[in-house]
Amino acid sequence: MQDVIFSPAFGNRPSYLVGREAVLSKLLAGLRCPPGSRERAVMMLGQRGSGKTVLLWELADRAREEGFVVANPTVASEGMLERIVEKIQDDGERYVKNQRARVTGGTLGALGFSAGLQFSRDVQESKSFQYKLTSLCRKLASQQRGVLILVDELQANSPEIRQLVIAYQEIVGEGLDIALVMAGLPGAVSATLNDHVLTFLNRARKMTLDPLSTSDVDAFFARSFEKLRLSVSPDLRREAARATQGSPYLLQLIGHNVVAYAPENGVVGEKELGDALASAQADFESDVCGTALAALSGKDVEFLQAMACDDGASRIADVAERMGVTQDYAQKYRRRLIDAGVIEAARRGEVSFAVPHLASYLRYQFE
Ligand SMILES: Nc1ncnc2c1ncn2[C@@H]1O[C@H](COP(=O)(O)OP(=O)(O)OP(=O)(O)O)[C@@H](O)[C@H]1O
Ligand SMILES: [Mg+2]
Repeated sequence: MQDVIFSPAFGNRPSYLVGREAVLSKLLAGLRCPPGSRERAVMMLGQRGSGKTVLLWELADRAREEGFVVANPTVASEGMLERIVEKIQDDGERYVKNQRARVTGGTLGALGFSAGLQFSRDVQESKSFQYKLTSLCRKLASQQRGVLILVDELQANSPEIRQLVIAYQEIVGEGLDIALVMAGLPGAVSATLNDHVLTFLNRARKMTLDPLSTSDVDAFFARSFEKLRLSVSPDLRREAARATQGSPYLLQLIGHNVVAYAPENGVVGEKELGDALASAQADFESDVCGTALAALSGKDVEFLQAMACDDGASRIADVAERMGVTQDYAQKYRRRLIDAGVIEAARRGEVSFAVPHLASYLRYQFE
């Protein structure tokens, strides 16, 4: 059967964005705040597969509808700054088309441009990123256009982010209409950097991409299965929804596998659903659990292994004992892993896994 709805692949725009209306409205409300507001410098944090990239793309579309000039998501990396400038030029061009720069006079903002948002050769070749970005913001401001910059896979300690943050602050200082939304893993800012980038990021509005609600997922499954002409009983469908544990990536994997395992007649029973869930889990473990562990130190993983013995939440005291370390020592790793978004504080003195299937993955990886 042809699956025209689910497509589990990182960065892939889903056919329908489940359960993110509230966070999108919040982001858009932030953009309506005056320049310089805290709401306009946002850090969006979420685990792998929580939908950061696709949310940035959705925000780009929505902000554009509200008149913003948007630099589509750029991955924090070398060359990021040049890309941001180019993307603003691309997107903003339509608002300044056919405006030839005047040779003398004209508004201050028009200086340094050849045509539209293209820089004169002199500026293009010799000026800094900060200069270019500021010029673009000034020129677009003269057309009553704000600028939104989107950054993906934030690396807080990269020199490019540092430069971007400095430029942002200068532009805000000028009172120009600019906003910045950066997405990254929860651990992206816990890096031990200690300069004003960190101060900036700490002051920025933080938004966490929470797990999707089971009822949103269930409603989406109901609509999708009907469209695909699959018959899945409400009980089995709810089981599938619960099995996503609110992870958008797992949702795509499970949906896709239900379609893949559906028999010819379209009636999905317990057996087919079981196979689909197992297959989705295996993919999720290798794509998400594997990469999550690869980013951690040996001791971090030891801590997680010590947790994996428990069925539900783990007591720190037990974890420390299993690791053969003091509780103080274990606390250090607890903090690190919480910052990394891998575990979360449960009841007092307890922690639990924040990544679906990580416990079972650890159990058989290291048995
Ligand atoms: N709200 C949503 N509704 C339905 N599907 C979604 C939603 N958000 C994300 N997805 C799907 O989940 C998968 C992962 O999304 P995405 O690549 O945006 O995650 P991410 O947080 O950027 O992951 P990473 O940290 O690895 O970059 C994709 O297949 C995407 O289509
Ligand atoms: Mg991503």
